[in-house]
Amino acid sequence: MEKLTLKETVAEHTSSWSQGRLTLQNYQGFWNVQNLHEGTVLAQQSFKAQPSDVFICSFPKTGTTWLKALAFAITTRQTFDESMSPLLTTLPHECVPFLEEDLGQIEENHKKTNFPLVSTHIPYPCLPKSIIDSNCKIVYIYRNTKDVIVSYYHFIRKWLNMRVEDAPFEEAFLEFYQGISWCGPYWDHILGYWKASMERPGKILFLKYEDMKRDPTSNVKTLAEFIGHPFSMEEEEAGTIENIIKLCSFENLSNLEVNKSGKHRPETSTSIENRLYFRKAKDGDWKKYFTDEMVRKIDKLVDQKLSGTGLVL
Ligand code: A3P
Repeated sequence: MEKLTLKETVAEHTSSWSQGRLTLQNYQGFWNVQNLHEGTVLAQQSFKAQPSDVFICSFPKTGTTWLKALAFAITTRQTFDESMSPLLTTLPHECVPFLEEDLGQIEENHKKTNFPLVSTHIPYPCLPKSIIDSNCKIVYIYRNTKDVIVSYYHFIRKWLNMRVEDAPFEEAFLEFYQGISWCGPYWDHILGYWKASMERPGKILFLKYEDMKRDPTSNVKTLAEFIGHPFSMEEEEAGTIENIIKLCSFENLSNLEVNKSGKHRPETSTSIENRLYFRKAKDGDWKKYFTDEMVRKIDKLVDQKLSGTGLVL
């Protein structure tokens, strides 16, 4: 592929609600933070997918950490039972490599292991071509838009070390509503994967965060089957599914020492405290933040954008 010059391909926006601390780049119709934008371009230029790769794809704050933990626990359960799982001592994001930042590790996995999982926030139209050409499986998680906005607001605010008083939610909402957010517009992110799922039946599994909470057992079974690690009758009878659900639950993961006090990518500019990936995990938390006017605006927009998909957010 022809080399891309970053300067020629992006527009920039500095978020007003972040007091100038958050700058996003627009590239191929989506916004991103600088280093992940660069990571996306690098992946587009050099990543070689293998047909056995399974991609965990998501918009930020839709339940990525949970899905990564579940997919990791499912694929590695023959090697580690729940009492020995790396998830007990390692942030789920470090158990599954991230395409935008971990190309080297993914290449190592390709050479040395048969570990199939790779995660990414890259929108479908921007995915490296080799992922599409290799016809890889993709699991996509999505979540109620209003809860995503609240989760996103707190995550970015805490990451930028801002107090609630200094980061007006109304402005953050407005920006998100305009499509300007990390990986935004959210509805276009969903639509890209949804359209692809229509074009590539059986290759893209859609999971809804709220459904997974309501009925984890059947969702975990579906996930395991889809990624090629179905549970046997013996495992079902032995309670393996329930054990995995318990291991990956918010209550369990958020109380582990590593997730309370550890740091993710401590040596980098995007270093972040692990605890920021675990906030409340509560459906409907948006009700404390949204005015009636905000609800009306965002519901109307999302209804318009996703009409015809059958997806309900
Ligand atoms: P809240 O901010 O609403 O609490 P992501 O992993 O995509 O960054 O999404 C983060 C959201 O998922 C946060 O939502 C976080 O609390 C929630 N979360 C993290 N781990 C979870 C788990 N094991 N089960 C359910 N939700 C989880």
